[in-house]
Amino acid sequence: MPDRTGIVVVGAGQAAVQLAISLRHKGVNRPITLFGDEVHPPYRRPPLSKSFLKGDTPLESLYFRQKEWFQQNDIHLRVESRVEAIDRERKTVRLANEEVRYGDLILATGTRPRILPDLHPSLPNVLYLRGIDDVQKAMTLLPDCSSVAVIGGGFIGLEFASVMRGLDRDVTVVESAPRLLSRAVSPMMSDWFLSLHQRHGVDVRLSARLKEVVKGGDGRVLAIRLEDGSPISADLIVVGIGVVPNDDLAADAGTDTDNGVRVDARLRTSDPNIYAIGDCCSFPLRDGRHVRLESVQNAVDQAKHLAACLAGQPTPYAAVPWFWTDQFDTKLQIAGLLRSYDEARIVGDQGAPSYSIEYLRDKRLVAVDSLNDARTHIAARKLLAMEMGAAAA
Ligand code: NAI
Repeated sequence: MPDRTGIVVVGAGQAAVQLAISLRHKGVNRPITLFGDEVHPPYRRPPLSKSFLKGDTPLESLYFRQKEWFQQNDIHLRVESRVEAIDRERKTVRLANEEVRYGDLILATGTRPRILPDLHPSLPNVLYLRGIDDVQKAMTLLPDCSSVAVIGGGFIGLEFASVMRGLDRDVTVVESAPRLLSRAVSPMMSDWFLSLHQRHGVDVRLSARLKEVVKGGDGRVLAIRLEDGSPISADLIVVGIGVVPNDDLAADAGTDTDNGVRVDARLRTSDPNIYAIGDCCSFPLRDGRHVRLESVQNAVDQAKHLAACLAGQPTPYAAVPWFWTDQFDTKLQIAGLLRSYDEARIVGDQGAPSYSIEYLRDKRLVAVDSLNDARTHIAARKLLAMEMGAAAA
């Protein structure tokens, strides 16, 4: 007889909300509680470094659902509620002043930014873009800011840089790797984004490391100095040097972790009543290797999958990963996971504003990058889904 007590979700981001929505769609009527440690109701993150930062998206439209929706669907949303520990024996989670029982516990705890100690987020003109509050801090600083130094040439750094150039700020990007976006794209794509940013006047420094931070009496950063000695003065410093998974709760409770909360193909941790989904979840691919993906697609697909499992339809998780980024007038859409490839084929005209690159390994398609080319991207997701026998959703 399965345990029918409550489903408790730690985290109130994209994965957590999608899980709650999908559980109710599937007719699961067990009590559901979402614990989030932010003050805001669950919200979409992708617009934060794009339209919200530009002022084009109002705050309310970031929210997935209004508070009433949670009430109407009998989902207990608890904001400003940080879960501090899990007691697996008693099947409870502990918060500051209470303990709550669970039947099944879902970890959707996400990630947190990696911090550079010399550029701590508490400094008045240093920003780490993770949540609404961070972007609101950026918006209050922008009127008095004419130059920005961006540390990290990944997704956050480059999206921020492109918005800042659109607002006519001077921008320098400091990337420690020899190429941009190296975590997610091929060297060909890195080169393409380097020239895109340079064309728009961004000063990009590759293989560049921070050596020193010069601060004023009020703690404001006045300038940074790189290891090659070059100084960069800036009114605002934005740091986007990657994230670390929030897997401490799981580790402290003694469930397996390994760059994230380690789960099996049904998204179960080493404790059969605890699951993990979204950015914090390290899950097995079909070849058995574990990966942790930081994307909306992963959060949504894993949540839908887990909802089906909890509704009594357990199947192994398999979905085609996809990602996107908007920078200047370019939308890059990535289908598949680019680990290694031995052939790259251009689809379309490489000189044109829209084209795609297909990556193959042993003659099999493994990933496709599409620049302003949504048709090829959608077709690639379908093709990759057929390859892996998965849903292309
Ligand atoms: P990232 O992993 O995309 O990029 C971090 C970059 O910082 C890398 O290029 C890395 O080489 C560089 N770096 C690391 N240490 C450095 C150092 N000490 N000095 C200079 N550069 C250094 O992570 P990012 O941009 O911080 O994004 C954080 C999270 O937000 C990720 O989960 C990302 O997927 C997500 N995000 C996704 C977006 C999208 O998919 N369009 C947009 C914005 C954020």
